[in-house]
Amino acid sequence: MPLAIWPQYMAGYAAHTSFTTRPAIAGKRPSVPLYPVALKRRFRVAQNWSPQSWRSKPIRQVPAYSDAAALAAVEAKLKTHPPLVFAGEARNLKAKLADVAAGKAFLLQGGDCAESFAEFHANNIRDTFCVFLSMAMVLTFAVNLPVVKVGRIAGQFAKPRSDDSETRDGVVLPSYRGDIINGEEFTVADREPDPERMIRAYFQAAATANLVRAFATGGYADLSRARHWYLDDHHHHDLLQRYVAIVDKIAEGGEFLRTFALADTVRQQTSRVDFYFSHEALLLPYEEALTRQDSITKEHYATSGHMLWIGDRTRQLDGAHIEYCRGIKNPIGLKCGPSMSEDEFLKLIAMLNPANEAGRLTLIARFGADKVSEKLPRLIRAVKREGFNVVWSCDPMHGNTVKSASGYKTRPFDRVIKEVKTFFDVHRAEQTYAGGVHLEMTGQNVTECMGGAQDITDVDLHDRYNTRCDPRLNASQALELAFLLADSLRDERMKGAGLAASA
Ligand code: PEP
Ligand code: CO
Repeated sequence: MPLAIWPQYMAGYAAHTSFTTRPAIAGKRPSVPLYPVALKRRFRVAQNWSPQSWRSKPIRQVPAYSDAAALAAVEAKLKTHPPLVFAGEARNLKAKLADVAAGKAFLLQGGDCAESFAEFHANNIRDTFCVFLSMAMVLTFAVNLPVVKVGRIAGQFAKPRSDDSETRDGVVLPSYRGDIINGEEFTVADREPDPERMIRAYFQAAATANLVRAFATGGYADLSRARHWYLDDHHHHDLLQRYVAIVDKIAEGGEFLRTFALADTVRQQTSRVDFYFSHEALLLPYEEALTRQDSITKEHYATSGHMLWIGDRTRQLDGAHIEYCRGIKNPIGLKCGPSMSEDEFLKLIAMLNPANEAGRLTLIARFGADKVSEKLPRLIRAVKREGFNVVWSCDPMHGNTVKSASGYKTRPFDRVIKEVKTFFDVHRAEQTYAGGVHLEMTGQNVTECMGGAQDITDVDLHDRYNTRCDPRLNASQALELAFLLADSLRDERMKGAGLAASA
């Protein structure tokens, strides 16, 4: 869509961000004080933002581009390229996330750890999309709640790394930081950060987004096709049976509905899905170049994806990544790991969401299965005490990475499950809403995480260990997690409704 249409999508947004307006969220606790002006004063929220104000702040995880002129040329080129998403879509997602914050929907966010140039293929995109739809269907069916679907896709290229360099046999080279920055091969040429890769990533993101949008709206995602989303031989028999049982029940319901006058309306609603794109806001020259301003409201949106999140390694209060993210109006995620202090946490929330707008901020807890019960309650209580409107989501992947005996970076499935369960338990105890999950997963039958129904062991890992960075749940493990989640959510809702949970 041409940029000239941009302002139309932004019209009417100004009222939404008034600091004196209490966000209208049905079902929110009425006793909570929500006065952003006071919040802003208390936390002294910074002003004077621009898409490039991050440049004057300390920055971490930044690639060392050796050719400044080549970098500037790429940035200038990207600034002329069309946005990949529109502000109106980002606003729609924000509204859906406000429903999650209010306990009226559930957030499913997931996809690749890192998209790659080599694995760019329609089948890979389709398979990830299918496993996503299957999981969402299982969850929706179990709990009768809308599932907000946000992919780590169409732009998830840049990776934060623990070390700036990697040493092999005495040779030291820059670490691989994702295909948008450098190459994975351990050679001087490949590891050199190359700004031209941003252009390639942009076009790959555009093509991926185009295909996903076509799948989502062009008939592929029609609920009547659900049986075809998940009929691959390699999936575990029990999972497949459970899945097909749900599909059959939905089909029966569909037959029944066909006799009613509303059948057409239902059909319209189930023939397509809303699917959103997200990635880590890590490579700021790329993000800045794709930041666009509405000429009417003067508000800025990142147009590289609908939702951006801030990684656990780049969430310094005075750092460049927080500076960039505080000014864009998209929904934002904030990863919260074990090193997050309560003071820093509250300041970050006030900084990123000064208007206390529901749906703006998703807190993504990634503590690890053993730390979550110790670390999470204090943060939840602080959020409650301050009256912050947030979505709480659980990333059970990044705190549970271990090295297997054979040397592979892996994640034991039982630890992933344990973190999710503990996250739900803690929220139940605190009487807050566990609103979502954030997963690294793929539709491929990879062997990267150990365990699950297929019982992948250390010796199996080398079979199909294809990830560019972190180990992902494969399609079976992802679906198995969805069933476990569905059971938890259903129990929760039945308890909430004062009913005895049925098996
Ligand atoms: C990620 O989500 O890929 C990631 C690097 O996570 P975190 O910042 O939580 O480590
Ligand atoms: Co990762």
